[in-house]
Amino acid sequence: MPKILFIEHNGKQHLIDAEAGKSVMQNALDNLVPGIVGECGGACSCATCHGYIDPAWAQKIPAKGENEEMLLDGAMHTEPNSRLTCQIMMDAELDGLVVRLPISQY
Ligand code: FES
Repeated sequence: MPKILFIEHNGKQHLIDAEAGKSVMQNALDNLVPGIVGECGGACSCATCHGYIDPAWAQKIPAKGENEEMLLDGAMHTEPNSRLTCQIMMDAELDGLVVRLPISQY
């Protein structure tokens, strides 16, 4: 099973066994990781699944879509490596993915 390391804004770490074929957001919710809300259920319409993708992984995940760009433009505390985690599907290639979580989702 691929793993994802989530790091809360306060540094608390959550290493989870992720399910391939489910989004990073859904994997966080399934494992009760604090700091990801996922209010719209992954429909790319709420931005409450915002996370910072570790730069080491930036080239390995798919590029942002237009909707994701627009939502991130209106989100709080964004950084160049901000992504909506509902738009990133887990697979074996992403084993070890590191995602930091913004303070605004607590
Ligand atoms: S869960 Fe709503 S945009 Fe990702």
